[in-house]
Amino acid sequence: MVIRELKDGRSFVSLQEDHAELSAQFAAHWGNERFSRLRPYPTMVFATTCHDSGYRDFEGNPPMNVEKGRPYAHREEVPDFELVELTAYARNVEWVSSQDPYAGLLVSMHRTGLWQNRYNVFTEPAMRPRERSQAVQNSKKQLESKQQEIKKQFAAKNPGFENELAYNYMALQIYDLLSLYFCCDGYAAENEFKEYAISPVRVSYDNGETVRLCIRPKEPGAVSFDPYPFDVSPLRVSVRARIMPALKARSEHACVEAYHKAPRQLLSFEISR
Ligand SMILES: [Fe+2]
Repeated sequence: MVIRELKDGRSFVSLQEDHAELSAQFAAHWGNERFSRLRPYPTMVFATTCHDSGYRDFEGNPPMNVEKGRPYAHREEVPDFELVELTAYARNVEWVSSQDPYAGLLVSMHRTGLWQNRYNVFTEPAMRPRERSQAVQNSKKQLESKQQEIKKQFAAKNPGFENELAYNYMALQIYDLLSLYFCCDGYAAENEFKEYAISPVRVSYDNGETVRLCIRPKEPGAVSFDPYPFDVSPLRVSVRARIMPALKARSEHACVEAYHKAPRQLLSFEISR
């Protein structure tokens, strides 16, 4: 669950698949006269759409943070839940791979990268590396060894594959971070975005040029990007969220009911040059 708490105790609660769907809107519009268009385009949009679909295994009835009166947010540790999560992630990699092996490789790399500082592709934003459990380290090893096999198969057919894959991995991380910015990380105050940057960002598959991608607040719900990476300006994007009330009765049952009954809203944002 991707959650933004409001001052009055309410929260915007988005499924991981809603968050990923917002990420996919950035993938769909990425590229213009300065930034490379994605290739392969359908694979990249599909991989971005499904990069967090493992959570689908349990987000139908998500575990509740009863103290907070809502589901656990994605950075909160759910007690005794690691095995469920690891199984779900691996199952999602398998499913995405069955549809599109290249997309499956990217989703697998996304998952293992999250356990290793996104493979250090960015110096900004700064990450907080965490010690990982033995179960996570084992899962990482298994997924990475499968990645090596699949990479070899693709590289045998396409000598530029490793370079293209490195760009595409970076691109997926950007769409993930941008979606998190709009869903929860990008707020200085309730209706005010904060400045944010992602760096270094490669602009092209064909050379090593990089830029610092800066996001600056405009009015509520609107930001500018510099340099501008999308194909249209302004670009309007949206994410579905439940509006969960501030709960007085803090029980599992009350949380579950409030979660399922919460009204849904489409939160929309405008991005321009
Ligand atoms: Fe994500």
